[in-house]
Amino acid sequence: MISLQHIFKWVNTGSNRTFLLRDITLDIKQGEFISIMGPSGSGKSTLLNVIGMLDGFDEGIYHFLGEEVHKLKEKQRADLYKKHIGFVFQAYHLIDELTVYENIETPLLYQDIKSSERKAMVADTLDKFNIVGKKDLFPAQLSGGQQQLVGIARALITKPKLILADEPTGNLNSQQGEEVMQVFKKLNEEEGVTIIQVTHSEKNAAYASRTIELLDGRIEKQS
Ligand SMILES: Nc1ncnc2c1ncn2[C@@H]1O[C@H](COP(=O)(O)OP(=O)(O)OP(=O)(O)O)[C@@H](O)[C@H]1O
Ligand SMILES: [Mg+2]
Repeated sequence: MISLQHIFKWVNTGSNRTFLLRDITLDIKQGEFISIMGPSGSGKSTLLNVIGMLDGFDEGIYHFLGEEVHKLKEKQRADLYKKHIGFVFQAYHLIDELTVYENIETPLLYQDIKSSERKAMVADTLDKFNIVGKKDLFPAQLSGGQQQLVGIARALITKPKLILADEPTGNLNSQQGEEVMQVFKKLNEEEGVTIIQVTHSEKNAAYASRTIELLDGRIEKQS
């Protein structure tokens, strides 16, 4: 599904060049569940953004589902990630004027899905995340952790083939964190969704079948 070959990313400051990613070569098959670990500043988010096509790179070759990402124009890249990738980040931008129910429904409005089917999909998602009781509340009426859960529910409702998650349980209490991990596990095992998560937690990392450790922008270890 994903093939990165000798990816380098850098920024030039004056006469200095700082490498954010150094010689990353990585193959990820459809259906894998991967954890990316490493100290702060080691390039985890940068790598995730490159994989998600939100960020470019300076050297190397990237194939995603057979497409040569390094050769695509910005619009084509955007079409590709919008179609296949669900992003789960730490900060969610829920729409303040919409209820939990409406926020979760939003991504479906851009797709050609019948109203009755939309209703069923939202109900199913609310249920999966244990937030049925919150559906008529507005974001400001939720705790930070609950807002994060709603953000995750919204990212997953379109059933992406690939989920990219950057510290997805960062603001959650341990029970909510566990719930998110269980949802990931289920999506991965039962629906074959490929998952790449950045995490500092050994416990969360253990849900994955493979762990990649970064240090100073390069792959230090794989297990
Ligand atoms: N646009 C940029 N210009 C300059 N330096 C950058 C830029 N983006 C990222 N960096 C640097 O690249 C390094 C890697 O950043 P990145 O955000 O990928 O780290 P991380 O592993 O996700 O860290 P954390 O665990 O703290 O989230 C950091 O030293 C950061 O300061
Ligand atoms: Mg980061």
